[in-house]
Order: sequence, then structure tokens, then C-alpha cells
Amino acid sequence: MTRGKFIGAMLGGVAAMALSPRLGYAADENTPAPGGVANDCFRPGKPWLDTDGVPINAHGGGLLYVDGRYYWYGEIKVKGDAGNYAQVGISCYSSTDLYNWKNEGVALAVTDEAGSNLERGCILERPKVLQNKSNGTFVLWAHYERKGNGYNSAQVAVAVADNPRGPFKFVRAFRPNDQMSRDMTLFVDEQGVAWQVRSSEGNATLQLAKLTKDYLDCQPDFVRALEHTYPEAPALIYHDGWYHMIASHCSGWLPNAARHAVAKSVAGPWKELGNPAVGDNSAITFNSQSTYLLKPAGSNVIIYLGDRWEPKNPIDGTYIWLPLEIQDTQATLRWRDSWRLADVAT
Ligand code: GAL
Repeated sequence: MTRGKFIGAMLGGVAAMALSPRLGYAADENTPAPGGVANDCFRPGKPWLDTDGVPINAHGGGLLYVDGRYYWYGEIKVKGDAGNYAQVGISCYSSTDLYNWKNEGVALAVTDEAGSNLERGCILERPKVLQNKSNGTFVLWAHYERKGNGYNSAQVAVAVADNPRGPFKFVRAFRPNDQMSRDMTLFVDEQGVAWQVRSSEGNATLQLAKLTKDYLDCQPDFVRALEHTYPEAPALIYHDGWYHMIASHCSGWLPNAARHAVAKSVAGPWKELGNPAVGDNSAITFNSQSTYLLKPAGSNVIIYLGDRWEPKNPIDGTYIWLPLEIQDTQATLRWRDSWRLADVAT
């Protein structure tokens, strides 16, 4: 779907996203027009406007870096309870500086076809995209629940595209390794091996499985981590000899204390070290739940990406991006009202 159609769908359907372009924004550039107001810092929890001046709508998101440009994929939310179900699909934004994001439209669209997998009203959460270097495709995985089935499907939806902006074409929905898969992420390790990490076994345990060469499935074997502790919202990063995982406990849309675990290999063993958040509201991770960890290209800064969910009016959810300070195996997440990458550059 083009951006025009996306905006049309948002206005014409259940979505009532306020469109109030701020003067000075250039519609087609990644940065505002001369005289416009650019974002020059992260402001966790504050409305974050795209280059059209519209709040970014990319929840439960994940990032991908391709040829000097970051792509941010996320759940498109709308107003009211309907916003907790996929009414539009998965969004894609792009940026060269991580502060200013251009809306690239709907990357994966729901359909009106009754009974189809992506029928409007299904659940599509936590989309993550990888570039498969062996065949040039871009592969999107998301937590998928069939329409009308609550959270009982516990599957993934996999879709492919030949460029990062999409449109992505739905391939199939399934339980990887015949296992339940709800909150999930994708991660490429230091050996270039791609993994799916999922909350499985009734959300009680994480499972980690290598992807097949085409990234459309998991290899037959998988490992387990954080067993019987109800880990959700996993996000991984490699830093200085260690793989670090940030995850949450299991309390639905309500925030809880973040969890930090380290391992020498994605296959584990993973050692859990506690809540990396410190200070006021650290017990609820500053009212957020993890979705991704990013080390920007050429930088040693690690960014925690979290969601501040608003389940009564999901479109009002905001984003909590904070530096995750890592020293050996220790990680610390501190609140900042606003910050820039240069503030924490190592
Ligand atoms: C959370 C999960 C979200 C969403 C929500 C639904 O625990 O992290 O992605 O599934 O539950 O209640």
C-alpha cells in the first residue's frame, strides 16, 4: 500500500489519526524543510512526530539497517479497543539519523477477505525484519493470532519483500517447530546465524531456534532459556564478548520490571542478572516493555527500545528509547527526559 493509501485507510476506516502537519516539514525528505522543526534528540514517552508532523505509529517495533538507512517496522495502532487488533497492518518508517523518521507506508497490509490469514481483526504483533544476504530478500516475522481466536493460535506470520520498504507478501502462518510462539524477536549473531527467539510453552519459557537458509522457517532443533519464569518481549544485542538479552515478565499490557540475561553464545546457557533499570519507576521499567535493542552503525551506544502501551486507546502508546549502559556483564538503564547519541558516545 502506498503512503497515500495508508493515510486514506487511516482516515476512512476505524482509524482516526490526527493529521496536522507541522509547517516546515518536507513531505518526501527524511529531514524537515529549511526553517522546519527537526527532531534533534530522543524524548522518551513524548509524542514523536514523523517528517510529515504526524505521530509515529510503529509499536512493538524492530529496526533494520540497510545501506546507510534505518527502517523501523511496527504495529499500526488505531483508537479504542479495536486498536488492540490489526486494523491496518505493519508500518515502515525510514531514517538516516534515528531522530527523524519518514513514513514509508504500510509494509504488510491486512485484507478484507473473510477467512484469510491476514483478515482485518487478526493480531499481528512485534514485527521484526531481516535481510537475507544469501538470496537478497527481506523477511518479516511477527507474532500472529488468527481473527476471533484470542491469543490461542500462538503462531508466527512470515512475509517476504524484495526491498525493505515492502510491500511484504504474506507467505504463511504457523507454529515454528510445532511450538507455541507469542512474543518474539529475530536476531543475527556474530557468526551471521539468524535466530528466532520466542515466548513459548504457554509463555513460561523462551525458545531459541536458528532460521533455515531462506529465513522462512526454523531449523529442527531449538534450545530453551529462562525456563518456567514467564519471560516475554525478548530483545538481543552483542557487545564486547557477550550476548545480552532484555526481556520482561508476563503481565499483559501492564509494565513490569525488565530482565537482563547474558550468554557467551545465543544457544546459551543464559544467566539472568536482574532488572537493569535504576531510579524512580525502575520497578516498571519507566512504564515500558522491551521490544528491541539497537547498536547504531559505527557506534558503541546501545539503545533500549520499549513501548509504553495504552491498551484503552492504543494509538496513544509512546516509545521509550533510552541508552542501555553496558559494562562487562552489567547493564544499567537510567531515565532521561531527553538525550542524544553524542551524550553517551563511548
Ligand atoms: C504482552 C505482550 C504484548 C501483547 C500483550 C497482550 O504481554 O508483550 O506484545 O501480546 O501482552 O496482552
